[in-house]
Amino acid sequence: MSLKVALLGAAGGIGQPLGLLLKQNPAITELALFDVVPVVKGVAADISHVNSPAVTTGYTKDDDGLKHALTGAQVVVIPAGVPRKPGMTRDDLFNINAGIVRDLAQAIAEFCPKAFVCVISNPVNSTVPIAAEVFKAAGTFDPKRLFGVTTLDVVRSSTMSAQAIGDPTGAPKYTIPVVGGHSGVTILPLLSQSKPALPESLLGDNEKLKALIHRIQFGGDEVVEAKAGAGSATLSMAYAGYYFVQRLISAAFEGKTGVVEPSYVYTKDEASLASEIGESLDFFSVPVELGPEGVKKLLPVGKLSEYEASLLKAALGELSGSISKGVSFIQTPK
Ligand code: NAD
Ligand code: LMR
Repeated sequence: MSLKVALLGAAGGIGQPLGLLLKQNPAITELALFDVVPVVKGVAADISHVNSPAVTTGYTKDDDGLKHALTGAQVVVIPAGVPRKPGMTRDDLFNINAGIVRDLAQAIAEFCPKAFVCVISNPVNSTVPIAAEVFKAAGTFDPKRLFGVTTLDVVRSSTMSAQAIGDPTGAPKYTIPVVGGHSGVTILPLLSQSKPALPESLLGDNEKLKALIHRIQFGGDEVVEAKAGAGSATLSMAYAGYYFVQRLISAAFEGKTGVVEPSYVYTKDEASLASEIGESLDFFSVPVELGPEGVKKLLPVGKLSEYEASLLKAALGELSGSISKGVSFIQTPK
């Protein structure tokens, strides 16, 4: 089997460690690293010495680099764009990143229209709708193949929950679905559905529960503040991004079944989701069963606690505005 993965924004804080993680996946036979900065060629030369199968090449804009990086790609991962500084929201990144994602999506539509596309660039709540609108305009949109990567919220949920219950080394045990979007109050970790269940000493203590959910929702700020102007989460994001991509690869290309990961996907016309959340949104993060076609099935959000249901209301309002902002960025004539 041959499998080509293209990573766009490969010289960045996320791109470099994510490229390294992708390189060590034995299923990947070709790894194309694209960035607008020339150092990407050095990053590719460096990573290419790792003795795994993926033939690794670096491309910049020169010599039709984006075209060469994307042609034949079956999976495209996009961490291209600017990160936050303290005091900024993810939406503050819209002005720069919207155009970056639009242009990259246009190139994907042209050079690898059938690829699975995993968008990391913020604000994810808007950049995924932007990519979808570009694909629709190009006639290549397949809702089963477009994913907003929200896995860092899932990763944080298990780590921070384990810490909150005084079992910090137990983080890997807890699988917690996260639904909604990827920004502040739109991030809705369903702690009541943790497997294994979290203890009553947490779930029954409103103050502790509130503090934990707030910490998960604003986990990105912890890193942005600690890095003090030097960027946002890169290493944990590379871990989370790789985790999602290798799960997708295992379901789409390696025949693995029962692979379920939350992701921010196209949910328009999903009547059962609309009746669960009380509103019809074009995009929403839900647990997704992955398969050869990408999205095999959207799984239900499931039963929410009373507190989670109240948080869902707050999430829906912000999310719907972010989706419309992304859609009008492409649809409104400039
Ligand atoms: P970074 O600045 O370190 O790296 C971004 C890279 O993108 C740079 O190398 C830059 O040259 C490149 N780039 C810019 N325009 C490009 C273009 N048109 N084509 C290709 N490459 C281009 O930033 P980072 O820390 O790696 O973060 C990247 C993005 O990921 C940010 O928008 C950040 O907010 C987002 N992010 C998302 C999540 C998530 O959970 N989804 C988590 C962390 C960060
Ligand atoms: C995160 O959640 O860490 C990312 O979305 C980056 C950010 O801006 O916080």
